[in-house]
Amino acid sequence: MKYEFDEIIDRKRDPFSFSFKWQSPDYILNDLGVKQVREDVICLETADMDFKTAPEIIEDLRALCDHGIFGYSLIPDTYREAVCGWYARRQNWVFDKEDIYYYPGTHEAIAQLVKQYTKQGEGVIVLVPCYGYHGDVETAGRNYVQVQLINDGNEYFTIDYDALEKACQDEKNTMLIMCHPHNPTGRVFDHEELSRVADICRRNKVLIVSDEVHSDILRKGQDFEPMMKACGPKDLIACTAVNKTFNLAGLAMTNVIISDPDLKQEGRGFYSMPSPFGIEAVISAYNKGDAWVDALNDYVDSNISVCMDYIGKNLPKAKVWRPEGGYSLNIDFSGYGLSDEEVVERIYGRAGVILNSGLFFDDTRGTQVHRACLSSPRALLLEAFERIAKEFAD
Ligand SMILES: Cc1ncc(COP(=O)(O)O)c(C=O)c1O
Repeated sequence: MKYEFDEIIDRKRDPFSFSFKWQSPDYILNDLGVKQVREDVICLETADMDFKTAPEIIEDLRALCDHGIFGYSLIPDTYREAVCGWYARRQNWVFDKEDIYYYPGTHEAIAQLVKQYTKQGEGVIVLVPCYGYHGDVETAGRNYVQVQLINDGNEYFTIDYDALEKACQDEKNTMLIMCHPHNPTGRVFDHEELSRVADICRRNKVLIVSDEVHSDILRKGQDFEPMMKACGPKDLIACTAVNKTFNLAGLAMTNVIISDPDLKQEGRGFYSMPSPFGIEAVISAYNKGDAWVDALNDYVDSNISVCMDYIGKNLPKAKVWRPEGGYSLNIDFSGYGLSDEEVVERIYGRAGVILNSGLFFDDTRGTQVHRACLSSPRALLLEAFERIAKEFAD
C-alpha cells in the first residue's frame, strides 16, 4: 500500500482542533518573552506528527466506533501478544507477556515509577540537554539531578562517564532516567555506551528507567538496541509506546516493561484502566503497522536530508548534526553572533516559526540552539526554513 505523508491537514481550526502543538504556542512565546508574532505561525515544537496515523489503525478504530459501546475496558491477552510480537520482530527483544504494565502515557508512567521506586528527597539523574522530566520528578518531591552530556561543538553528544559516576556515587541519587534514543540530541546509544551506563548504575545501586518511546523512528541502516536487551533486566525498567511511532499520543498508551522479578510491581499502588480506543489502537498498530512505520521512516529520513541540505545552503552559519534516531533536529544559530533575544525574535517573532529553544531541555543552554521536529509534510517544513533563512540573510 502507498502511504500519504505529504497531505497538509489543518490542525489549527475546527473540527477536532484540539492539537496541543498547534493551539499552544503562547506558553513557549511567553517563556521566551516574544510579544508579537505573525498570525500564520508554523508549529514545529511538540514531538508529535502532522501525519494521519496508519490507515490500518483508522479502519480498526472505525470498526470499534461502530460497535458503539465504550465502557470500562480490560487489556486482553491479544494486546500483550501484539506488544511482545512487535518488539521480538522489530528489535529482537523478547520478554514475557506478564512483564507488560500499562500506564496512561509515558509522563504518567515516569511520574509513577519515580514515586514507586524512589523516596522523598532522593535524586533522579537525567543526562542533559534532555526532554523535560522535571515535572515528573519534582512534583513527587524528588531532586532533578542534571548530568551534562558532552557536546563536540557541532551538536553531537556523548556521555560523560566520570560525571555520571560522580552523580551515582552520591547515595541520595537512586534513579537514572535514560532517554534512548535521546531527545533532543538524536543520539541512539550503542552497546558499549549502554553497557557502561548500566555498569555505573548497578555498581552504585541506581535504578535505570530507560525511556525508549522514540525507538521505532530511526535513520536508514541505524541499529537500535533496547537497553534491557543490551544489559539484561536487572534493576532496569523500560518505557515503550505507540504514542510517538504511530502519532497516537492522545490515546496515552504506554507499556512499561519490567522483567526483573525483584522489581515487579503488582500491588505497588498504581492502577488505571485504558480506553477501548487505546487498547484497539495498540493491538492494531503492533499487528498491522510494520509497513506504515517503514514508510514513515523513509519519509522522515528524506525530510531530514532535505532540511539539512536547505539549512546548509541557506543558513550557512547554522550548525546541525544528522540525528540517528527520532525526528528532532537541533539547530545552533550561535555562528551568527547575535544576542539570544535577537535569535528568538527572528525565528519566533518575525518568521513565525515555533520551535523549542535549548532552554527547554537544559536551563543552562540559552536560546542559540533550537529543536525543530521534522515530523510534518515536507512542504510545510521547507516553508518554515525559508522564512527563517530570510530573517538571517543579512
Ligand atoms: C523522550 C520522551 N519521553 C516521553 C514523552 C512524553 O510521552 P507521552 O506522550 O507518552 O507522555 C516525550 C514527548 O515528547 C518524549 O520525547
